[in-house]
Order: sequence, then C-alpha cells, then structure tokens
Amino acid sequence: MKKKWERAFYFGRKIVVYGATGGLGEALCREIYGNVTKLVLAGRNIEKLRTLKQSLEENPVDDRTQNTELELWVVDTSMDKFAHRVRQGQFDGFIVATGITSYREFCVEDQRAVSPDIVPEVRYKTWQDYEELLQVNLADVVRLALELLPHFRQRQGFFHIAGSYSCIFPVPYQALYSASKAALLTFVQAVNREQEAEFGVDKVRGLLSISLIGGMATNMYYGSDLHKQFATFEGLFIAAPQKIAISLLRGIARRQQIITVKAAGFLTYHFVRRLPAKWISYGLLRAYQPKH
Ligand SMILES: NC(=O)c1ccc[n+]([C@@H]2O[C@H](COP(=O)([O-])OP(=O)(O)OC[C@H]3O[C@@H](n4cnc5c(N)ncnc54)[C@H](OP(=O)(O)O)[C@@H]3O)[C@@H](O)[C@H]2O)c1
Repeated sequence: MKKKWERAFYFGRKIVVYGATGGLGEALCREIYGNVTKLVLAGRNIEKLRTLKQSLEENPVDDRTQNTELELWVVDTSMDKFAHRVRQGQFDGFIVATGITSYREFCVEDQRAVSPDIVPEVRYKTWQDYEELLQVNLADVVRLALELLPHFRQRQGFFHIAGSYSCIFPVPYQALYSASKAALLTFVQAVNREQEAEFGVDKVRGLLSISLIGGMATNMYYGSDLHKQFATFEGLFIAAPQKIAISLLRGIARRQQIITVKAAGFLTYHFVRRLPAKWISYGLLRAYQPKH
C-alpha cells in the first residue's frame, strides 16, 4: 500500500482474510500487514498458516505504518461460529479469498472417468466434488456475508468477496465454477439494492463488494494445469497475485461495489462483454479446450 489515502482508510482497522493460505490470500496479507491494527490469517490448514505468519514477520514490506498484531484462526465447517468470532472480536473488514476450480481433470493424461456418459465437465468428478465446490465457493460465502453484514454496517466496515470474470464470460469446462461466481455477483448486487433501499445509498456504500479477477499466477492456475493452455499469452493475461491484491485493496478503500482490476479489467467489464456472444464463445472455447 503506497498511497496516503489508502493507508488512511485501513489505519487502525482489524481485518480477517479467509483463505489466507492461497495465492491471492497471501498476497493480500502481505499488503495489509503493517497497515492495520490487527490481521487474522484464517484458513483450514494450521501448518500453512504458521508458515505464512512466520514469513510475514520475517519479511515485512518496507512501507509499514503501524504495528500489526497477527492471529491465526483455523476454520472448520461451521460458518456461524466463524462469523460469531468475527463479531465478538469487533473486526472492521473481512475478505474472502477461498475458492475451488473444476478444470483440472481435463488436462491430466491418466483420466479415469467417473461417469463416462454425461457432459465432459462432470465426467471426471464425483458429485461430492461438486458439492464441495458449491459449498466453498458459494454457500459458505453467502452464509458469512449474511451473518456479518449488520455488524459491518454498524462499524462502517466492509465484506469483500474475490470473484472472477468467469461470471460474465462463463468458461467452458468450468461450468460449475463459473456458475458459482455468477451467483456471487448477482448476490452482491441484489443484497446491495436491498441495503440501499433500507438504509440509504451513502450508509451502505462499499459495505459489500466483489472483485472481478482474470488469470492470476497461483496454485489455482498452475495446479489445474491452466498454464499449459495459456502459455503463449501468459505475459499478457496472467497477473501476479500481488498486483491483483493492490488493486483489490484500492477498490475497497474507494468503496466500490464491483472492483475491476486495472484498465484492462475495466474495459473488459464495460465494453468487451458487449461484443457478440458468438465471438466471445468461440475465443473461450479455443482457449479452454484441453491440449493433451
Ligand atoms: N487464480 C486465478 O486465475 C483466479 C482467477 C479468477 C478468480 N480467482 C479467485 O481468486 C480466489 C483465490 O484463488 P487463488 O488463485 O488464490 O487460489 P489458490 O491459491 O488455490 O487458493 C485457494 C484458497 O482456497 C482455500 N480452499 C480451497 N478449498 C477449500 C475448502 N474446501 N475449504 C476451505 N478453504 C479452501 C485454500 O486453502 P488451502 O491452502 O488450505 O488449500 C486456499 O486458501 C478464488 O476465489 C478464485 O476463484 C482466481
């Protein structure tokens, strides 16, 4: 965080990053650490959380403005207890950076079809896999948001969700992932309308937001072998998580509802998606069709 007004926005706040162990989560924590009073690293894996804490303490970014107390929270499946802890701790902000993709199995050589007769995306996964995806990407996020919005409204805080461009450009072979992200975008817009009607536009500006993120060099990208698909365009389309984290935190500080990343993101959201659907579908199909 370099800009004064951004630092001023985060100064003295207490923030939770859920999914701190992922590529985006870690990048966010690096930017936030040293610019807030308290930062909670939340996730399901205590070892990864400990490693991250140690790394933040040993290699803080140079431009810190305050001492940050670090806490580790292991999150089990109970989102209501998690939300309760956030309320009790009088936190001011919450960022969801968890997520599961559904792309991987298309790119590995030794595919073992679970259900060979159905559409390709579902062929290599079990319904338990999809239930987990929908639980983590959608149900848990919605539950947390609804539990925490009244709390953050009172504190003039924020609840932010890491979303994806796949919600406006549904991605072939990632239908359920795209669907979960589209549902989150609609959820954010609808809940904001309700909140604005009830409490006034100014009172709830920036309370609930979502970011639209494109390709980002994290586990999700490399682990699902997407880098094999996009190798040629990597420099152009795939961003470092640190850059995304900076844009995202800036968008939150500007109290934006839909945060697009950089000028390319803004143009994509406002103009590119208005191109004829068949052009976009053709491009996406070519890009995502597995190269074995
Ligand atoms: N990478 C991209 O190209 C891209 C593009 C657009 C949007 N996004 C979005 O950005 C966000 C962050 O993704 P990323 O790229 O940082 O991915 P990542 O490195 O794979 O991190 C995913 C995070 O989600 C957590 N997670 C996975 N399954 C979970 C489960 N069952 N329960 C609880 N936590 C779980 C992981 O925890 P563990 O560390 O314990 O596994 C990790 O903290 C996601 O919402 C993703 O959809 C990513």
